[in-house]
Amino acid sequence: MELPFAESWKIKMVEPIRRSTREEREHWLAEAHYNVFQLKAEQVYIDLLTDSGTGAMSDRQWAELMLGDESYAGATSFYKLEAVIKRLFGMKYVIPTHQGRAAENVLFSYLVKEGNVIPGNAHFDTTKGHIESRHAVAVDVTTADARNTQLEVPFKGNVDLDKLEKVLKENAGNVPFMVLTVTNNTVGGQPVSMANIKSTCALCHRYGVPVVMDSARFAENAYFIKVREEGYAGKTIKEITAEMYADADAMTMSAKKDGVVNMGGFIGLKNKEWYEGAKLFCIPFEGYVTYGGMNGRDMNALAQGLDENTEFDMLHTRIHQVAYLASKLDEYGIPYQRPAGGHAIFVDADRVLDRIPKEEFPAQTLTCELYLEAGIRACEIGYMLADRDPVTRENRFGGLDLVRLCIPRRVYTDNHMDVIAAAMKNVYDRRESITRGVAIEWEAPLMRHFTVQLKRL
Ligand code: F0G
Repeated sequence: MELPFAESWKIKMVEPIRRSTREEREHWLAEAHYNVFQLKAEQVYIDLLTDSGTGAMSDRQWAELMLGDESYAGATSFYKLEAVIKRLFGMKYVIPTHQGRAAENVLFSYLVKEGNVIPGNAHFDTTKGHIESRHAVAVDVTTADARNTQLEVPFKGNVDLDKLEKVLKENAGNVPFMVLTVTNNTVGGQPVSMANIKSTCALCHRYGVPVVMDSARFAENAYFIKVREEGYAGKTIKEITAEMYADADAMTMSAKKDGVVNMGGFIGLKNKEWYEGAKLFCIPFEGYVTYGGMNGRDMNALAQGLDENTEFDMLHTRIHQVAYLASKLDEYGIPYQRPAGGHAIFVDADRVLDRIPKEEFPAQTLTCELYLEAGIRACEIGYMLADRDPVTRENRFGGLDLVRLCIPRRVYTDNHMDVIAAAMKNVYDRRESITRGVAIEWEAPLMRHFTVQLKRL
């Protein structure tokens, strides 16, 4: 008999979690103004809000914490981290930051000027925020494939090269860089193919435009290249990673994802001029350049995390779990962005709650229903997150309206996946009875989804 697949690790430490009653959850959610970001974590049974900073570190990472060098300047921990980043990505210059958005803040402070245009294969919200707050324009050049959740294509995160070329042509001289996000979080944790990465870099370079890789989930992207793209099955994740970054000019990294640390990030650069420019913003915003926003011990843990999370078995364990959850949803007929992504399943709320109009935020409503059903905290990646157009102030209803079931790394077991799928099924089975959504009572002018206050209609 062929032995079944199992995790490539065993568990050394556990943390209790608690179930609650529906009555408790009704009360807590009302107190949170129907915004799950406002819940206390202890009011949550299974937390799928994000895979960012929520992973479980390995015994080797915890051991590295003890070896951290907390020197203000020139700490050994910095050089350890720098060496891993040079080896994996070929980035000559490294600036540590406290997380991904801080890397964006430092680099974009140097690079982005008012009126600039910055294309990307679906910018993440903080990336878009850092562009728009500098009065520049973030243009999405995502493939049309990504808009159809039921279309099963292997690299739905790809850049539409025609759309990109049009932006580069029409804005010649006004595009400081292009952002290539791997995997593409916004469209469902979907990967970008190696062929598309290379073509994107070649096209941008033809127009004299550098490429910045938003690298939060680069290792998951490398895994998908290995298992889905012709010619890569025999290569290691580390070899594929090196090839992904061979033509890129720079990277911003939220280390809280594929670095498997609870906090951290960095900028990687190939060009000395950019390094010198970004450094000037690192010192006042983050800290001196050999620690930026990080403790020495955290740089050590990150160096170890990057190394071990670029091993096939680690990634296979993770992506297998996400695929397992997807297979349960398939069994129950629940529509999600196909195929299953690297870090999450994105349920197509527009299709589930098709009686609720856009103006009443179907995905936000489904997020509330899932919490009420089983204490599971998911995250709306839809019309609430899309926010308002900075000029017209109209809601941006043009994109997808999804509920992200985001799986932390090495935290939950497949039994938890069974609970999540069953809870989703229960909500799905009573979807006809959910006919009204939510309305906004108060919202912030930027990144409203974190603090928005809602009422149930
Ligand atoms: N880029 C991508 C693709 C991201 O997914 C994130 C964060 C960031 C940049 C910003 O990094 O949080 O370290 O400042 N994504 C998290 C998420 C928050 O839940 O998807 P950060």
